[in-house]
Amino acid sequence: VMENTLVLLKPDAVQRKLCGEIISRFERKGLSLVALKLLTLTPAIAASHYEEHLDKPFYPSLVSFITSGPVVAIVLRGPNAIKAVRTMMGPTNPENAPPGTIRGDYATVMSNNIIHGSDSVISAQREIAIYFTEHELVQ
Ligand code: CMP
Repeated sequence: VMENTLVLLKPDAVQRKLCGEIISRFERKGLSLVALKLLTLTPAIAASHYEEHLDKPFYPSLVSFITSGPVVAIVLRGPNAIKAVRTMMGPTNPENAPPGTIRGDYATVMSNNIIHGSDSVISAQREIAIYFTEHELVQ
């Protein structure tokens, strides 16, 4: 099934100059770039993106971190792209992420875990719409 998925390279990835490295992995995998931009999230965009975590104890620190510097928002497209990206990212907690995964190779702690990827078709549609208009996605 051809899918679009939303990837965010978080402020730690941008600050550590890992964007090229990470995008390169997705390109080598065979996923296609469909949209891409560098932006700093406003608190409102962060709240929209992370609305499911609103009640969590880590929510304030999550919003503070994700708005702390520029992020790269990317739409990737390919067969089963959602699962492919999540497998390549590794588990949310880098402590559990094996070497060879993005978090396993580049991250050490949950609060600075380098990357976000949509977890379902519904989430992907919702998250892509936060960052991109229809005409920003190339055909
Ligand atoms: P992400 O996939 O962007 O979705 C929610 C983020 O919250 C998650 O990655 C982590 O970076 C962050 N986070 C911080 N603390 C926790 C926690 N205890 N459980 C889950 N996610 C956490």
